[in-house]
Amino acid sequence: MERPELGETLFTAEEIEERVNDIARRINEDYAGKELFMVGVLKGAFTFMADLVRKITVPLEIDFVALSSYGSGTKTSGVVRIHKDLDTDIRGRHVLLVEDIIDTGLTLSYFVQVLRAREPASIEICALLEKDIEKKADLPVKYVGFKIPDVYVVGYGLDAAQAHRELPHIKALKE
Ligand code: IMP
Ligand code: MG
Repeated sequence: MERPELGETLFTAEEIEERVNDIARRINEDYAGKELFMVGVLKGAFTFMADLVRKITVPLEIDFVALSSYGSGTKTSGVVRIHKDLDTDIRGRHVLLVEDIIDTGLTLSYFVQVLRAREPASIEICALLEKDIEKKADLPVKYVGFKIPDVYVVGYGLDAAQAHRELPHIKALKE
C-alpha cells in the first residue's frame, strides 16, 4: 500500500518528552502510596506507554488491550471490537488506561464501561493527544499531553494505514 504523504511537524521529540515528563510527575503525585495497573491500548499507545512507564516511580504492573473502531483508512466505524482483552482480573486495582489519541472518544468510552463492570478501585484515562472536537462520547480524560485541532496525525506510535508509527515526532498528513 502507498504510504500517506507527510505534512508539517506538530510536536518534536523534545516537546513530546517534556510533556511525557509532566504527565508522569502528576501521575506519581496522584498515585503516591498506591499501586498502578497501567493498560496500554494497542497498537498506537506502545511508544507513549514505553516512555511513560520509565518515568513512573510508584509500583506498577502493565497490560495491553487491542481494540478497534477504525478500519484501514482514517474514518471511525463506530463499532468497537476487543481483539485482545486484559490478562488479569482488575477488581480492586487502580487502572490507568493509556491511549495514543482520543478523537470521538467512542472507542474508549465503550471499553471503560466494560472495565467498570469488573469493579476496579479506580479507572482513569491518560492520552497523549486529544482532538479538540465536539465529542461524540462523554469521556473524562484526566491526563492529556496535547490538544490538537481536527487533523489526522501520525508518528510516535500513531499510524495512517499502518505506516509512520516509527517517527520520533508527530506530524500531520499532507492535505
Ligand atoms: P475514537 O474512538 O474516535 O476516539 O478513535 C480513537 C482511535 O482512532 C485512536 O485510538 C487511534 O487509534 C485512532 N485515531 C484517531 N485519530 C487519529 C489520528 O489522527 N491519527 C492516528 N490514529 C487516529
Ligand atoms: Mg488507539
